[in-house]
Amino acid sequence: MTLEEIIKEKIKRKGPIKVSEFVELALYHPESGFYNHYPPVIGRKGDFYTSSDLHPIFGRTIGKFLDSKKFPVVLEIGAGKGWLAHDILEEYRGEYWIVEKSRIMQEIEKEVLRNFSNVRWFNNIEEIPEFQGIFISNELFDAFPFDLYKNQEGKWFEILLKEDFSHELCPPDEEIFPLLDHYREAEFVVIPAGWENLIEVLSKKHTGEILIIDYGYERDELVRKFPYGSILTYKNHAFGEHFTKNIGEQDITFFIDFTLLEEILQSNGYSDLIIQTQADFLIEQGIMDVLQEYEKISDEKEKIKARLAVKTLIFDFGRTFKVLRGRKIG
Ligand SMILES: C[S@@+](CC[C@H](N)C(=O)[O-])C[C@H]1O[C@@H](n2cnc3c(N)ncnc32)[C@H](O)[C@@H]1O
Repeated sequence: MTLEEIIKEKIKRKGPIKVSEFVELALYHPESGFYNHYPPVIGRKGDFYTSSDLHPIFGRTIGKFLDSKKFPVVLEIGAGKGWLAHDILEEYRGEYWIVEKSRIMQEIEKEVLRNFSNVRWFNNIEEIPEFQGIFISNELFDAFPFDLYKNQEGKWFEILLKEDFSHELCPPDEEIFPLLDHYREAEFVVIPAGWENLIEVLSKKHTGEILIIDYGYERDELVRKFPYGSILTYKNHAFGEHFTKNIGEQDITFFIDFTLLEEILQSNGYSDLIIQTQADFLIEQGIMDVLQEYEKISDEKEKIKARLAVKTLIFDFGRTFKVLRGRKIG
């Protein structure tokens, strides 16, 4: 059965499903989900690439920062192909833990990181022991399943998917209303499913700092920019908006609401939260000094590659991508 047939069969049995159930299967179905494909979907030959795929200078700059702060443990959740970890580990000498949900991604990470003996893997956040150190992620929170809500003349409805993937509107659960109230000005809103659970479990085991990198905006700006919802699908590096097409073959993602992420972190004991652009963070952490190291090598091609990567990281990715930092004490 194709993934499309599996999902349709499920809807036939159960009736219309939540969008988050659809996205969970489309992205993470153990055999056919987008993140369980081999060869991997991330990278220039895949459907999209991240800052980590672009050039080692991104991870090395972060690695120098982590090493300078002497964190005993770095926990990365959602390591993709493992290149961010690889480049960080060129600079950082402490323990490195990875929580990775996709079996295929985990296999690729193990291959990419085979020369580092200080890395440990976990299949989910429940498995990690208590630790003191830093939690980091790059493009994790935009890779979560989400639910969709529609505001029809001031009245909210949840969008469910029928067997032919057309929409059915139904009254949302009572407990979501206070949250939806924050998005009054929007016509459609994306509410991630699973952020709260992940952060709640993490917070019970973690003391130290957080460094979250992702693309998105604070709530007011997000609603202004995307009144029809901030979903994106990528196929061959092109945008698409029909997330129910090419099931398992295309990424389904969204610009995240950093205000919501901050609220969830705060309610789980994280404080001193600050958001800055990726550009400001990388410059503050000395990406230009790392670039100087590439300027000293004799290979002209390598020099140009490093310069172009810095330009992309600072100017192209640098404003949409944000860095959220904070801490949790005792
Ligand atoms: C967009 S990729 C980011 C890749 C990588 N961080 C990078 O910089 O290239 C998202 C990754 O997060 C993983 N992931 C998504 N949700 C997760 C969760 N709840 N726990 C652990 N890993 C998760 C996916 O399997 C995938 O490897």
